[in-house]
This record gives sequence, structure tokens and C-alpha cells, in this order.
Amino acid sequence: MAGKRTDMIVHGTEPYNAEPPRGALMQSRLTALDTFYVRNHGPIPELDPARWRLEVGGLVSGELRLSLADLRAGFAELELDATLQCAGNRREGLIAVRAIPGEAPWGPGATGTARWGGVSLADVLESAGLAEEASHIEFIGGDVSPEAQPAQRFGASIPRRKALAGEVLLAWKMNGEPLPAAHGAPLRVVVPGYIGARSVKWLQRIVARTTSSENFFQARTYRLLPADADADAGLNGTGVPLGAVAVNADILTPDEGAEVQPGPLEVGGYAFAGDDRHVIRVDVSTTGGGAWSQAELIDAPSRWAWRRWRAQVTVAPGPVEIVARAWDSAAATQPEHPAQLWNPKGYANNAWARVSVRVAG
Ligand code: MTE
Repeated sequence: MAGKRTDMIVHGTEPYNAEPPRGALMQSRLTALDTFYVRNHGPIPELDPARWRLEVGGLVSGELRLSLADLRAGFAELELDATLQCAGNRREGLIAVRAIPGEAPWGPGATGTARWGGVSLADVLESAGLAEEASHIEFIGGDVSPEAQPAQRFGASIPRRKALAGEVLLAWKMNGEPLPAAHGAPLRVVVPGYIGARSVKWLQRIVARTTSSENFFQARTYRLLPADADADAGLNGTGVPLGAVAVNADILTPDEGAEVQPGPLEVGGYAFAGDDRHVIRVDVSTTGGGAWSQAELIDAPSRWAWRRWRAQVTVAPGPVEIVARAWDSAAATQPEHPAQLWNPKGYANNAWARVSVRVAG
């Protein structure tokens, strides 16, 4: 796809779904636009930014219809560094436990960090006069997904508390550039700390409601099902709607299956914890978790962005498995095996990171 690096791992072309190769995410704290993963449920809509309007309605005292110029002129512009992480990130680890038909085998690249620029959702809701009884804020995109049953626009909702917390952005800039079409131009939602599915792209309508969205992607999928449920159980509303992202980490270098030299080996990766938690420590082991050493956190603590980390381990000739786990500010850490997490739609795999290398003899 235009604007993306040629070595993207493409899970589908129509709609386009792709993630960068493992090592590419290690290169900078902010993920370059050409490297940022894309997760689509339908074709990218062609929206004319001059004619496009954002509608704000539902339980508000005054409905709004805003152009991009109205948003720029009427509200304080702000920038925020936030990590987006798809609920399907690292699904390949769950698929290795048991097949998950119909879902893409995302590796560790369905996540990235960008500097988002726009206005605060809270400011726009205040201007519309949010009613007391509005407990959920729904977002509707401009793309129609044929995957939904029945086919419908992509949508999501977040609770009122999160919507008014100030960090949720209506963004038209990404890393200082105009938001690319693949990432939701002219305007997208960015819900820091929540699964990527709540950050609705090609935003067209915001609706204040008493209940969460009935959109397919909120009410039927992106729900955590019990391991013994049928994969379609979510269609009846079974399971828990996913929101805040649990602490997670992966290894980005060395690559899976790499040939390395004996002696000191640099290992690096990312770690992220959603909502009101942040990463406080990353541990690395070459003995399957028998002994751990602490990684150095490269990036400063950040409320909404990942922290990349690096560690030096010593490896002897033969096959070696490197494992890593992060801890968050609530003293939670990652479970050891994806088998403990397997679920029929393959969401939220935050098992220990594992990379196998071959050390030359
Ligand atoms: N918004 C719309 N309108 N349509 C979509 O298919 N995909 C969601 C979310 N917003 C989606 C959407 C999902 S599942 C994720 S993980 C993020 O967008 C991905 O954002 P990105 O493609 O900019 O990386």
C-alpha cells in the first residue's frame, strides 16, 4: 500500500491489514508513519475533507455539526503521545496453542506509538452540553464493514468517565503530519490505554447514550469469551467487552530464529500497560524464567505510551530461548503461557514474550 514500507507483513489486502516486521518497532519511540500497523474491517472510505462534517448528537442539549475548520477554531489544539494496541496483537501465540479460524495471525507488530494532534473529546462534549444521563459515548466511522452481521459502519463506545477524562482525542495529525487516509483521515478518535478498536477512524458521528453502543464491533465482537465458548458466542452478546489494555511486552530484537554469536547479546523490545497503569519494570531470562535480570528502560515513564527496553544477556552455543515479562504500576505482570489465556477470538494475548535463537558453536 502507498505510504507503507515494502517489508510490511500483510495479513490481507482488501481490506488492507498489515504490521511491520518485529525489529522495525525498536528503531524509535514514535513509530514512523510508514511503519505503523493498519487494522481495517472494510474498505478505506474516500471522504472529501472540505465537505466532511462531524455530527455530535444523542443526549446533548445542543447538537453540533462541525467542519475541521470549526474544530480548529473552536477548541484548544493539543498533542499527546499514545500507544495504540490492537486486541489481536500477538494472536499468533494463541493460534500456536489451538487454531482460531477466520482471524489473522498478528505478530507483535499490531501496536505502535504516535504523537496525535487534535482536540479533546471532553471539550467538544462540553460544548454540546452533555446530559447527566449520558453514560456512554458512541463513535461511528465512515467505512461500511462487510464482515459485520449485518454489514454496517464500524463503531464503538467508551464509558462517560473515560470520555470526559481529557486524554481522549479527536485527532487530525499523526507525528506532526496530516493524518493519513489509512489511519482515519480526516478525523479519528484516539482512546489512549484502550484496545485499538475503540479508536474509531474516519469519524463521522458522536452519539451520547444511556447504554453502550449496539454496533457489531462493540456489542458482538471485541468481547473476551470463555475458553470453552463457541467462537460465535459473542454474536449473542456473551463475553466481556474489551476496554483497558493489560500489561504486555514483546521482544523485537533479535529476530525469531536468528543466528547469533556466543557471548554477550543485546535484547530489546517494548512494554505497555493500558488505562491508568504504566510500565515500571521489565525482566529478561534465558533460563525459561528460572532466573531473571532487569532490563534497562529506554523511554521515560509515560502515562499513555509504551516504554522500549534493552538488556544484555550472555548466550552459549546451541538453541536458546529468551523470555521477557513486564510489570505495571499495580504490581501486575504477564502470565507465563498463552495456553492460560486462549480464547475463541484470540484477543488480549499478554503471555511472556519468547524468541528462540540459535547460538553458533
Ligand atoms: N475505525 C474504523 N472506522 N474502521 C476500522 O476498521 N479498526 C479499529 C480501529 N478503528 C477500525 C477503526 C481497530 S480494530 C484498530 S486496532 C485500530 O483502528 C487500528 O488503527 P490503525 O489502523 O490506525 O493502526
